[in-house]
Amino acid sequence: MLNTRVYVDRRAVLKSQFKSGVALFLGNIESPMNYSANTFPFRQDSTFLYYLGLDSAGLAAIVDFDKGTETVFGDDITVEDIVWMGPQTPLAERCREVGVGSVRPSADLETVLADALADHRQVHFLPPYRPENVIKIQHLLGIHAAKAKQYASVDLIRAVAAQRSVKAAEEIEQIEQALEITREMHLTAMRMTRPGLKESDIAGAIEGVALSREVHVAFPVILTVHGETLHNPFHGNLLKEGGMVLNDSGAESKLHYAADITRTFPVTGLFTPQQRTLYQIILDAQEAALQAMKPGKRFLDVHLLACLTLAKGLKEMKLMRGDLDEAVRAGAHALFFQCGLGHMMGLDVHDMEDIGEAYVGYDETVQRNKQFGICYLRMAKALQPGYVMTVEPGLYFIPALIDQWKSENRHAEFINYKEVDHFRQIGGLRVEDDVLVTNDGIRMLGEPIPKTIDEMETAMSGD
Ligand code: GLY
Ligand code: MN
Repeated sequence: MLNTRVYVDRRAVLKSQFKSGVALFLGNIESPMNYSANTFPFRQDSTFLYYLGLDSAGLAAIVDFDKGTETVFGDDITVEDIVWMGPQTPLAERCREVGVGSVRPSADLETVLADALADHRQVHFLPPYRPENVIKIQHLLGIHAAKAKQYASVDLIRAVAAQRSVKAAEEIEQIEQALEITREMHLTAMRMTRPGLKESDIAGAIEGVALSREVHVAFPVILTVHGETLHNPFHGNLLKEGGMVLNDSGAESKLHYAADITRTFPVTGLFTPQQRTLYQIILDAQEAALQAMKPGKRFLDVHLLACLTLAKGLKEMKLMRGDLDEAVRAGAHALFFQCGLGHMMGLDVHDMEDIGEAYVGYDETVQRNKQFGICYLRMAKALQPGYVMTVEPGLYFIPALIDQWKSENRHAEFINYKEVDHFRQIGGLRVEDDVLVTNDGIRMLGEPIPKTIDEMETAMSGD
């Protein structure tokens, strides 16, 4: 875990923003795969990790804003548990390491909250995303499960989002540790890719890199010859000559900070002229976005700049036509780029998505646009120093979408459907890096990972 002071200070910042009431933080419990003793890898709730740092199942915490105190609720394991799990550090000792002196049995949580409610004190909690915590909210606070998200505290959401959005030096260090492992994952994929392997050969090897470094992946590995499917979890396809592989993967650091990197490269190790042109377009769009990013700049505008750069490249390829500012305003580019340019990253790969994009990625100055494509933009508001963002433009040729738009003649003034038909089988390409917003621009995080056409072709040749 991080230094004791870090957790104490984080809670002090939170406490300074509330005059009264209590905040309830529910940790996660083990999640069974098929029966209770056979569990998925444990993942603690990220906000619980942020304020309490305790990475084990079955804990809760109350921060009392009137008294300025905090209490962790949890049970030490029994001798019987030790028989199966081995010796464990006592909870009180672990709590001391994160600066919490008050530890009570889990069973006390109910009474403490009942007393708070009886005294008409406000109990702030974040929107629960695991069913067991939805049920706990119902049980502990009497809020019907269907309403648990709705009754979450907007004040607490805002305070947590503001605090977690700005990353401190020790968090950047964690993200760069995750990126160091992620770099090894991506180099492994580039070096082993060749025709005749299956996606699963590479996906398994790169997840193995993370496991061998005593960490897990930050999200399920996307390793696919069908990069046009944005979040493709399937790994059963054969790698064939002439195709491309999209590798969107990242490790977590030991303290669960994420990395999220995408590279797209040819199965043979050499781009075809058409792939080369398309890849250069997404690289140019990423470069334009990176150059534009600085504090005060709305990420929505960075997204639109990337869309315009993609559209310019597509016009040169005769896939788009007409006035490109108008085309992007109308959303015509979304036939090829259907999603957002990026998202915040931190303890979650899509940082704080559980507490709500309306507070994390949007604010009173920028409302969500419902137009297809831009509606998926997870982050739109102005950047601030300390934000960590992914920047991930792509081009995706989705036959079903092309067919639909073509049948409706949608945006025909901007799209040359006759030419688009020649690209139906090309798949999808994305390039993604993680950056820190600084006082005057951005800093690329992590050691560079081969990214230009030359760099990737060299990495794949084994040189
Ligand atoms: N890398 C997965 C995502 O950004 O959604
Ligand atoms: Mn991403």
